[in-house]
Amino acid sequence: MSRAVVYDTFGGPEVLELREVPEPHAGAGEVRVRVTAVGLNPMDWVLSSVPEAAQRFGITLPAGFATDFAGTVDEVGAGVADFAVGDRVYGAATAQAAADFVVIDPSGANALRHTPAEVSDEVASTLAVAGLTASAALTATGVKAGDTVLIGGAAGGVGVFAVQLARLAGARVIGTASEGTFDFLRGLGAEPVAYGPGLEDRVRATVPGGVSAAIDLFGTETAEAALALGVPAERIATIAAPNPPQGVRATSGFDASPEDLTHITGAIAAGELTVPIAETFPLERIQEAVRLQSGRRVHGKIVVTLV
Ligand SMILES: NC(=O)c1ccc[n+]([C@@H]2O[C@H](COP(=O)([O-])OP(=O)(O)OC[C@H]3O[C@@H](n4cnc5c(N)ncnc54)[C@H](OP(=O)(O)O)[C@@H]3O)[C@@H](O)[C@H]2O)c1
Repeated sequence: MSRAVVYDTFGGPEVLELREVPEPHAGAGEVRVRVTAVGLNPMDWVLSSVPEAAQRFGITLPAGFATDFAGTVDEVGAGVADFAVGDRVYGAATAQAAADFVVIDPSGANALRHTPAEVSDEVASTLAVAGLTASAALTATGVKAGDTVLIGGAAGGVGVFAVQLARLAGARVIGTASEGTFDFLRGLGAEPVAYGPGLEDRVRATVPGGVSAAIDLFGTETAEAALALGVPAERIATIAAPNPPQGVRATSGFDASPEDLTHITGAIAAGELTVPIAETFPLERIQEAVRLQSGRRVHGKIVVTLV
């Protein structure tokens, strides 16, 4: 037997149960990963609380929980060439990650990657969803040296990657947050402005020369402010709005390229990018971890650890 977080009905964190389940094994073309860390994303609790969202991802009840994981390969099925028992790995397995074992077909794009020696499992477990989503938004908006980029929701799980990747690309970054978060954002290299009504005026006062691109990680407020500030719609991306304003691009991690993760892990190894981990929780405290994350005031990532 092994452990997995499972839920039988949709609802809040209270529906998540840590249960004994039959131990899964790798079949042909699959590997089994002994999971050591699970990075949480808002989509995890959206899928366990909104039946329509779960349906779009083909999730039926009872269901597993969480997507981002890191760990060590401990079984390799016939026909798998690129992974061996003992390899440190990380990746994404929708609604399966919060468990002792993930069984995965490693041939899918970004499904499973080797973890570089310089990257801890906790950090690796945060990369596949948030890192790729940030990279895709930067690519879609063509962020480059000399740009001034407005990033909305800059202190969250995706924001910490977007801010630092934009800075590494040579851009000036203006990030929205609440005032108590300003020092945290400055530490990442962004100039903070408060989100909320009047954003456009505050950005104008901060950068009289104007903003050249924008990435909205929280609704549409930043995208709308950027449009009002004269940023061309094709240089504005949203990741969290079902209906982006006219002409604004909706991007997701699925638009990223595999090289984007290589770029991120290379920057981590070089000490150029850090992944702030706001808090870690043991798997037994999954409900607490999800409750904290769903409050939407986290700075960086929340990671659940397994031993
Ligand atoms: N399309 C995709 O592929 C994709 C992938 C990943 C995530 N997403 C979505 O993108 C969104 C961001 O994900 P995430 O992991 O970064 O979320 P997160 O970590 O939960 O974001 C938390 C951050 O949001 C900030 N925030 C709270 N209220 C805000 C507001 N009204 N305006 C601007 N910022 C606000 C908070 O800053 P303060 O503490 O300062 O308030 C906090 O730092 C989520 O909706 C998620 O579902 C989409």
